[in-house]
Order: sequence, then structure tokens, then C-alpha cells
Amino acid sequence: MAGLAVNVDHVATLRQARQATYPDPVAAAILAELGGADGIVVHLREDRRHIQDRDVRIIREVVKTKLILEMAATHEMVGIALNIIPDLVTLVPEKREELTTEGGLDLIVHKHTIAEDINTLHGQGIPVSIFIDADLDQVKLAHMINADMVEIHTGTFCDATNPQEQQKAFNKVIDAVKLASKLKLQVNAGHGICYKTIKAFAGLSEIDEFSIGHSIVARSVLTGMEQAVREMRTLIDAL
Ligand code: PXP
Repeated sequence: MAGLAVNVDHVATLRQARQATYPDPVAAAILAELGGADGIVVHLREDRRHIQDRDVRIIREVVKTKLILEMAATHEMVGIALNIIPDLVTLVPEKREELTTEGGLDLIVHKHTIAEDINTLHGQGIPVSIFIDADLDQVKLAHMINADMVEIHTGTFCDATNPQEQQKAFNKVIDAVKLASKLKLQVNAGHGICYKTIKAFAGLSEIDEFSIGHSIVARSVLTGMEQAVREMRTLIDAL
């Protein structure tokens, strides 16, 4: 059975929209674990647009499953990882102007620096996953530079608007997942997966874990709305 790692970045996005102290991604992480999450993912971005350093520190302390730190392969972030010692680091590309991670790390371009970072992180016993596009060459390079794991980018499949495009993208995901598994890499998959697209992965047993954020946080806003309004209604009724 595949695992589910829940990304709580978007809870922090809501907090930062008001520069408030709530909703707290730490509380969301605890509740996600109570709901059955096998791991908690936070992406500490260079611009700190959602998750803050304090969130990572506290989530590290309170998480009972595992903490997956998603981060760019920069000197600053590697230093933070060495200090926090997450259960897994997922290396992702990062651009300031993007709304969310737009694609996988290009190992053809970055293999030497990524290999160095993997070495450094391994030195502290931190396993490393690399977020890559569903591309066989990227899978081979991840294996070559000693990654423990790859996370295959599912966004192209999930965001496709016509069936042919979607099938083509999914076939690429299947091929990448199968090659990674054959090379004895652990295989995660993530980006854009929602309550509909998750169903496509039935039978793809090589996937060890799904990394899902936006759709879960979005749904929790709606499933929690009735209760939240009722609680405020009760307070107003008592005035
Ligand atoms: N995996 C990676 C590497 C990501 O960057 C993200 C988005 O932060 C996710 C998974 C989760 O994607 P989504 O929020 O679309 O579920």
C-alpha cells in the first residue's frame, strides 16, 4: 500500500495572507497525522512566502511520522537541513516568480552540484529524494548521482486538459516510475494530484508514496466550513 505525505504549505499561505498567527501549519501537521498521513511535507522557500523557519523547527519536534523537507539545492537550505535533520530532503527547483514548483530539477544541467549536496546530506545520514520530470534520462541520472529516491512530477498529467495529452503524460509517469523502481530507487509521486486524478494510479504498485498538498488543504476548507460557521454562530447567539 502506498504512503501519503501531506504538504501543509497552503495552510501557511493562508496565515501569511494576513500576516497572522493562524491557521498554524503545525496544528495542521498534527491533524494530518491523526487523519492517517504517513509523513508531513513542508517547502521552506528562499522567499519564505508560506512556511517559516519556526514552522520547520516545531514540526520537526512534534511530528510522529516523518518530516520531509522540500527545498532548493542552495547553500542556505543545505545548512538548514543539516541543522534540522529531517527524515528526508526532497530537492526541487525554485524560482521566485513561480506560483508553485513548475517542473522537476534538470539533472542534465545540475548533476554535479546536486551530487555534492546529496553527499553532504548523506554525511549527516539524511536520505535525499529528487523531484524530477517523468523522463527516463532524469531517472538514470538520479540513480547515477546516488539519490535514494525520486519524486516523479505528476503535474503535467494532472493538469492536462484533453484526454490524449493526459494519457501521453500518464504513460511517461508509468515509464519513469517503472525504471526508477527497476534501478532500486524508492519512488514517490506528486504535484497536482486531486481526489479525481489519484484514481489513475491504481495498480501502479511501484509508487511508495504520494505527496499531496493543495487538493487536501482546499478540501479541508470546505469540509470544515459548516463546523466553523456553527461555532461562530454559537458565540454570536450567546452575546
Ligand atoms: N511535490 C513537490 C515536489 C511539490 O513542489 C509540491 C507542491 O509544493 C507537491 C508535491 C504537492 O503538490 P500539490 O500541492 O499540487 O498537491
